[in-house]
Amino acid sequence: MEIFPSIFLHILLFPVLTGFCSATDTLRLNETITYGKTLVSSGQTFELGFFWPSDSASKWYMGIWYKKFPDIIVWVANRENPIGNSSEVLTISPDGDLVLLNYITGFITWSSNSSKSEPGTVAQLLESGNLVLRGKDDNKQNYVWQSFDFPSDTLLPGMKQGWNLSSGVNRYLTSWQDENDPSPGDITFRLDNIGMPQSVLRKGSEKIFRKGPWNGVLFSGSVGWRNTVFKSIFVYDNEEIYYMNELVDNSVIIRITVNRSGLVQRYLLKNGESSWTLVDTSQNDQCDNYGFCGANSICKLKSKPNCECLYGFVPKSKSEWDVLNWSSGCVRRITLGCQQDPIKFLKLGGVQLPDLLQFSLNKSMTIKDCHAECLKNCSCVAYANSDIREGGGGCFMWFGDLIDIREYSQEKQQYIYIRMAAAELDDNKKTRLVLILVLSLVCGMLIISFLIFCLIKKRKAKSAFDYKVKDIELPMFDLTTVTNATKRFSLTNIIGEGGFGIVYKGTLPTGQEVAVKRLSTNSGQGLQEFKSEVILIAKLQHRNLVRLLGCCPEGDERMLIYEYMPNKSLDYFIFDQDRKALLKWQKRFEIIMGISRGLLYLHQDSRLRIIHRDLKTSNILLDSNLNPKISDFGLARTFGGDQTESKTKRVVGTYGYMSPEYVVDGKFSMKSDVFSFGVLLLEIISGRKNRTFHHSEHHHNLLGHVWLLWKEGRAFELANDVAELLFFVESEVVRCIQIGLLCVQKLPQDRPTMASVVVMLSNETVALPLPKEPGFFVERNSAETDTLTSEERCPTQNVLTISVLEAR
Ligand SMILES: *[C@@H]1O[C@H](CO)[C@@H](O)[C@H](O)[C@H]1NC(C)=O
Ligand SMILES: *[C@@H]1O[C@H](CO)[C@@H](O)[C@H](O)[C@H]1NC(C)=O
Ligand SMILES: *[C@@H]1O[C@H](CO)[C@@H](O)[C@H](O)[C@H]1NC(C)=O
Ligand SMILES: *[C@@H]1O[C@H](CO)[C@@H](O)[C@H](O)[C@H]1NC(C)=O
Ligand SMILES: *[C@@H]1O[C@H](CO)[C@@H](O)[C@H](O)[C@H]1NC(C)=O
Ligand SMILES: *[C@@H]1O[C@H](CO)[C@@H](O)[C@H](O)[C@H]1NC(C)=O
Ligand SMILES: *[C@@H]1O[C@H](CO)[C@@H](O)[C@H](O)[C@H]1NC(C)=O
Ligand SMILES: *[C@@H]1O[C@H](CO)[C@@H](O)[C@H](O)[C@H]1NC(C)=O
Repeated sequence: MEIFPSIFLHILLFPVLTGFCSATDTLRLNETITYGKTLVSSGQTFELGFFWPSDSASKWYMGIWYKKFPDIIVWVANRENPIGNSSEVLTISPDGDLVLLNYITGFITWSSNSSKSEPGTVAQLLESGNLVLRGKDDNKQNYVWQSFDFPSDTLLPGMKQGWNLSSGVNRYLTSWQDENDPSPGDITFRLDNIGMPQSVLRKGSEKIFRKGPWNGVLFSGSVGWRNTVFKSIFVYDNEEIYYMNELVDNSVIIRITVNRSGLVQRYLLKNGESSWTLVDTSQNDQCDNYGFCGANSICKLKSKPNCECLYGFVPKSKSEWDVLNWSSGCVRRITLGCQQDPIKFLKLGGVQLPDLLQFSLNKSMTIKDCHAECLKNCSCVAYANSDIREGGGGCFMWFGDLIDIREYSQEKQQYIYIRMAAAELDDNKKTRLVLILVLSLVCGMLIISFLIFCLIKKRKAKSAFDYKVKDIELPMFDLTTVTNATKRFSLTNIIGEGGFGIVYKGTLPTGQEVAVKRLSTNSGQGLQEFKSEVILIAKLQHRNLVRLLGCCPEGDERMLIYEYMPNKSLDYFIFDQDRKALLKWQKRFEIIMGISRGLLYLHQDSRLRIIHRDLKTSNILLDSNLNPKISDFGLARTFGGDQTESKTKRVVGTYGYMSPEYVVDGKFSMKSDVFSFGVLLLEIISGRKNRTFHHSEHHHNLLGHVWLLWKEGRAFELANDVAELLFFVESEVVRCIQIGLLCVQKLPQDRPTMASVVVMLSNETVALPLPKEPGFFVERNSAETDTLTSEERCPTQNVLTISVLEAR
């Protein structure tokens, strides 16, 4: 720290007293910023000035924050050197540096200290949030100094995170020490440049999250996000290695922040909104935790438990592994000798490569050389291409343990080859042979028994609906229990209302929460019919169907007791401004999967064939983990063994979800359910209702809109409209949309069965047919009434119309 010549102090006194008045974005020689004065960027987004943490008015910092959110401080100049009191000013020194100085003592607390500074520079707070020092008349981006080169805990668009290779400077983010102390904390987020770049989050020196290595296209283990809000740019050349965000859509603001609790978070603010949305975070799941499964293992999100040893490896400590403590990892089943044993390599794809700890890299080797080199060197445990462009090139070799491998499906594959004793793989072949033999035997037997079963079943088919009531153990609740549980059907306990009656929340004496559906009394249904139909529903057991716990028929009262779903129904989420944020792409996909499985069960896997007839968002309930459960079988129909279609004169259902053949001809079948499922799927992806969809450029409903986008190859834009889906894998979304379109095709015979829908959804490699035009996509008829729902549905008929008779 240095003391300025006294002349400088004199110069300063005058402006200190007058200050400057109106907010500007530029600070010139002889001007100062004191407490209460600020610079404001030209578009009013950012503001620079003094602030102090809430717990201490005696520690002052110079920083930059959002003008509308003074609490969100994106940059701090003197992070480590708080200043004491109001005799401090920010100004430009005679030799052109930006300085924080005490005008009484002349003591300098902080200085931009740029080697390029020259007299006459001016400081300007740019609209990007960058504070720059530049020559007086120089408007080029040739800055003498810029705050973007000295990140605090926030990465703003346009700011580079990474290396200037010629100067050796690595710009990285550091968390605050704590809420009131901006000095550097122990969480850092930086680009490591050892071998190939990796993006690493650390707590102290310990890695807690890692993406990489860079493979020429993306970071191994990450997916190519697509969105219309910002672009992620990664530059890797001889001068620089850096990551940067660039805003595409100027109506939003984004920032990336290193959270003190050890997370990197991306926040987004939409124009005119007053709260930030957390759109992405570094450790999204367990497998994102660095080295979660220990050495030589692989973390698989889709399996339970998540950790598996690599093939040919076994847990180092079986007892620890058994109690789900993975930290000691895995060791080889067959110890690898050196030259004498034959070696093979196991090819593994769709994974994030292990961390670059003990490794070597030769960028000019081919995979063949790489193989040969690794084979030669006994301590080489694995190899891989380092660059996947142009068919792949470069050679990574790993020595020692393989750490932090996770399963990840990527379109552009990068394979890793893991050294194995040849015996390991040969064993595998032998067991496979034996397995195949056994399997084919079993299959043969199964086929024979199936044929026999079919024969018997065919004979019995006529009596398929003669249900025996006695073997079902459905609890009958007595009226008093139910009355007490629902506080005498109190108004405050009402959680829903439908055409069949009111739904109350109840608490049984055991503490179990239930939903009680009190059916309208004028149903005219006999007790016996009611019971047998209830039993029919009670027999349906699937994790994606809402579970019926019992019923309570007493006098005229007909009540059904269901499991209670704390999260209400899907429409309550996807169409709600705030709640929809909870449904990110992955969750939405899981919901779609769940519904498809539940529906498949109804159509095919349950003992009956059931057509639901009223699939819609409000009939998909969500449990505490937001798992979907199909509910409301009030309109469901059962079909006999070979029956595939039926006709009704009374078309009931909900417009927007009903297929053309059903609305027009009253024909319903599994394929009409498939149509409703397709609508549901597209609504889940777009967050828009089919019926009430509006677009400025056409009058189609949602199906029509999707069809237009699809024909123009822009289907993914459907998801772009939904901020919550900012981060999605384009190919996954487009695939899903295609499946949705296949389901809503006009002709029932063109639509897939639920069985193929489930296969198409769960297996990315299954090729999809091209969809034909959807049913009901043209301009809607505005005279149509909105729904044929609830009220109009059927007070006349019995409530649970799973009536076998009409279906035949
Ligand atoms: C700064 O102040 C000094 C002394 O008051 C004056 O000589 C000089 O011209 C001023 N410079 C500018 C750019 O206003
Ligand atoms: C501010 O700090 C200076 C130097 O540290 C000291 O001389 C002065 O008395 C302080 N003023 C107040 C109001 O605390
Ligand atoms: C400015 O930088 C020089 C070296 O570049 C260093 O010696 C000096 O201590 C720095 N001054 C401040 C105030 O940071
Ligand atoms: C990298 O640093 C050198 C030396 O400080 C500087 O001359 C060069 O402009 C920097 N490069 C970039 C792209 O900022
Ligand atoms: C860090 O992230 C957690 C989880 O999102 C959040 O609860 C907490 O408030 C964040 N802390 C800060 C300082 O932003
Ligand atoms: C897991 O096992 C390690 C020894 O490998 C032990 O140090 C650690 O405390 C165990 N963790 C838990 C949670 O039991
Ligand atoms: C990399 O591999 C090439 C081809 O095998 C070889 O000529 C070169 O010497 C290797 N470079 C290093 C640094 O080992
Ligand atoms: C194997 O590779 C490592 C790392 O490149 C090297 O240090 C070691 O000498 C090699 N061993 C043999 C036998 O070539």
